[in-house]
Amino acid sequence: MSTSSLDDLDVITAKEYGDHGYPHDAWRRLRAEDPVHRFQPEGYRPFWAVTKAADITEVSRQPEVFRSAGRFILFPDPPDVDPATLDDNPPLRMLVNMDPPEHREYRKLVSGFFTPRAIARLEQRLVDITDEIFDDLAAQGDVAWDFVPEIAALQPLRMITEMLGIPREREDFVLRITNQNFGLEDPEFAIEGETQNEVLAFIGEAFAYFDELLAERRANPTDDLASVLANATLNGEPVPQFELYSLLFLVMVAGHDTTRNGISGGLVAFLDNWGELEKLRAEPALAPLAAEEIVRWSTPVNHFSRTATADYVLRDKQIRAGDSVALFYASANRDEDVFEDPYTFRVDRDPNPHLGFGIGEHFCLGAHLARLDLKVFWRVFAERVESVELAGPVEHLASSFVGGPKHIPVKVRFRPRS
Ligand code: HEM
Repeated sequence: MSTSSLDDLDVITAKEYGDHGYPHDAWRRLRAEDPVHRFQPEGYRPFWAVTKAADITEVSRQPEVFRSAGRFILFPDPPDVDPATLDDNPPLRMLVNMDPPEHREYRKLVSGFFTPRAIARLEQRLVDITDEIFDDLAAQGDVAWDFVPEIAALQPLRMITEMLGIPREREDFVLRITNQNFGLEDPEFAIEGETQNEVLAFIGEAFAYFDELLAERRANPTDDLASVLANATLNGEPVPQFELYSLLFLVMVAGHDTTRNGISGGLVAFLDNWGELEKLRAEPALAPLAAEEIVRWSTPVNHFSRTATADYVLRDKQIRAGDSVALFYASANRDEDVFEDPYTFRVDRDPNPHLGFGIGEHFCLGAHLARLDLKVFWRVFAERVESVELAGPVEHLASSFVGGPKHIPVKVRFRPRS
């Protein structure tokens, strides 16, 4: 066991994640030695790191005590903004930084699109989209690809843009905005700027596009999600524009980036455990369980944070009103008290009570879609791909919020089509 201080562990800087991937060794120590640990790293306001599944569940089930508005992701504090006012004027007001009862009203505006029944109807479309991607690749012959942007990103991106009603010509735009949003701290994607406004300029670009898209759908409504939002009302009134656009922004970016990271994380897991891919190939009915295990293993959303509204004792720690409480889902997904052999990747793991989609009030709206995306992708992959060879080093996204590989150079050998 290490004798270094727990305070020296780095579970939050983007650089740590970019250089080394998820800090599983640090979390293992935290879970064993101090599962609710207070950190105060340089450049950040203090926070409690919650690393065990039971504690994350306890916090998530009490949205009145642990609110999502305010500091809902732990970023370094920007130098040009007073920390006291930092959380009062968020650049977006989305479901993930709203609280009940308002949160439920906004969630209802879109939830009908994401029910198990509505999502099940998309299966054949997803098979077609995935087949088209593999057909394009197979036609190019023996070349190297970057698996993340050229393969993993495409299927979830095409599905969510179709659901929203964003035309395919806009795919690159959506992908760039999404990368800038989730890559805020990654030098490859971040917009350079002196002020927070400059750094977040992509939000303005997205909003300008939403003006166009929603005006068009008000004039010519269809059955897509943009039409529903364009004509939505809240308590009989039109939905306030800032919240409406924030909701659309959230669905647009959360609706594919996370799943892409799940697909990319899945590839890394299979490359290290090719026998598991062979298992799935032999028994395609395992695909739903494989999808769950991939979400557990890769945990594309690493953390969200809550702010305590009252004093509260969590495990053995006195949390004070106003404190930040960070929920590290990726740590919960290796929790020894929940999972047998948590460090083993098994496509037939059952049961698999992972927290990859969160739990409680903010449980992932798109969980059924993400599961179907992953299930279809890996079923088609197992059917069509003979082998994959790494053609260069895997690089990780520099972010402690969402995570995963950002580049995986590969050569893929396809099986002859039956
Ligand atoms: C593997 C893929 C995905 C993962 C791992 C994931 C993970 C998560 C997590 C952990 C949360 C909880 C946020 C919190 O604790 O505050 C969440 C919320 C959310 N997710 Fe996902 N997600 C995925 C895919 C999707 C997809 C495909 C959509 C499409 C619409 C989506 C939309 C959302 C939305 C709108 C919320 C906010 C829900 C709320 O606050 O009520 N996600 N997701």
